[in-house]
Amino acid sequence: MAQDKPESPLWILGASQGIGEALALHVARAGATVAISARSAEKLDAVAAKAPAGRIHPFPCDATDIDSLRHAVTDIEAKLGGIATAVLNAGTHKETPVDDFQSADVERIFDLNVMGTVKALEVLMPRMVARGSGRLALVASVAGYRGLPRAAAYCGSKAAVIAMAESLKAELDGRGVTVQVVCPGFVRTPLTDRNDFKMPYLMEPEDAARAIWDGLRADRFEIAFPRPFVLQLKALRALPPRAYFPLIRKATGIE
Ligand SMILES: NC(=O)c1ccc[n+]([C@@H]2O[C@H](COP(=O)([O-])OP(=O)(O)OC[C@H]3O[C@@H](n4cnc5c(N)ncnc54)[C@H](OP(=O)(O)O)[C@@H]3O)[C@@H](O)[C@H]2O)c1
Repeated sequence: MAQDKPESPLWILGASQGIGEALALHVARAGATVAISARSAEKLDAVAAKAPAGRIHPFPCDATDIDSLRHAVTDIEAKLGGIATAVLNAGTHKETPVDDFQSADVERIFDLNVMGTVKALEVLMPRMVARGSGRLALVASVAGYRGLPRAAAYCGSKAAVIAMAESLKAELDGRGVTVQVVCPGFVRTPLTDRNDFKMPYLMEPEDAARAIWDGLRADRFEIAFPRPFVLQLKALRALPPRAYFPLIRKATGIE
């Protein structure tokens, strides 16, 4: 495995806390130059201050606003050089149960998880294609494998990200641009701290960062972890509907 992967500079979108922060610190400590983005400049500065001097560079932006993304990418490339690796990690979750199903919640989730990723791709892809090199890692979730109760919006958004990554990879293979999709299980972050249920196979963000880094370096298309949870969810994916729905209702405490 090449020691110079993933290539620098890296850009992590959604890196002021949680998985993105852990990944930025992990990669910076391994010697890479990292640009980090999120809306909160203050939190980004605090992340940069935890890394060896000069390794992490904050570029605040809003992933739902293409002008803001374009400005950040232009700034990063002017200061650090062409983005070699982009990890599109900005995402959010809110339960959208049938009894409180609101289009505004669904729209907010899709606006960030799907359209934020799409807008970043619109800005990044032409640059990478023109250079004939680059690495795009789209952060989805194991929740994108199959529809889970109370998470219609989140599962739908992450299924969309997985399918987009596959479509893009099919087109970009052979053009020098690597496409990867990251599917974490439960990771302890401010996002999941809100969950009031027991999260199976809950991982620490540092372990998730290590798994993502290893997957990026290995050029794996799908970087999914932790393995036992992923295997169980993939087995569920193979079940026919008549077996899947009773099982998932029971497993998630609906009956
Ligand atoms: N934690 C898990 O168990 C888990 C499992 C599977 C997949 N994932 C996915 O992994 C990614 C990171 O999750 P996490 O748990 O680390 O979440 P998190 O703790 O909520 O962190 C999300 C990051 O995204 C940034 N962000 C939010 N809205 C943004 C916007 N409009 N523009 C730019 N940045 C924005 C946040 O910073 P600001 O608020 O400052 O903008 C923050 O840095 C998400 O895509 C999530 O769906 C997480």
